[in-house]
Amino acid sequence: MPGESIAIAADHGGVELKAILTGELGELGYEVLDLGTDGIDSVDYPDFAELLTGAIRDGRAQRGVLICGSGIGMSIAANRHREIRAALVHDNLSARLARQHNNANVLVMGGRFIGAEVAKDCLRAFLATEFEGGRHDRRVAKMS
Ligand code: RB5
Repeated sequence: MPGESIAIAADHGGVELKAILTGELGELGYEVLDLGTDGIDSVDYPDFAELLTGAIRDGRAQRGVLICGSGIGMSIAANRHREIRAALVHDNLSARLARQHNNANVLVMGGRFIGAEVAKDCLRAFLATEFEGGRHDRRVAKMS
C-alpha cells in the first residue's frame, strides 16, 4: 500500500530499468529505499541481492524489487534466504500470481528482457495484489 517502504536494487544490467521503476514507485506514493547500483560499471548481482534481502530482514523495507540482465541471477541469490520469496516475472499475470499464490515479497525482472511499460505494469500488479491464503498458505508455509 502507498506509504509502505519498498527497497530496490539492480546490477549494471538493470540500472536503467531501476531508475524508471524508482520514479514509478515515487509517483505511486511509496517510500523508496534505493540500494544501488547507480552506474553502468560492471558489478556483481549477489552483492545487491544481499543488500536488498538484508533491508527486508531488518525491517527497513516491507517488500523489494531486484533487477539484473535476465532476472535469473537475482532470483537465485535472493531465494537463498528463508524469509525471501523472490519471483521472476515477465508480465502482468505472472506478477499477480506471484502475489496471489506465492506471497512473493520480492519482484524480480530482467532489464534486458522486459520493456519499461510492461515492467511498470508488473510492478503495479505486484504492489496491488493481495495473497489469497487458503491452500496457498499451507504451501508457502512448507517452504519456510
Ligand atoms: C551481467 O552481465 C548478467 O550476468 C546479470 O545481469 C544477470 O543477468 C545474471 O543473472
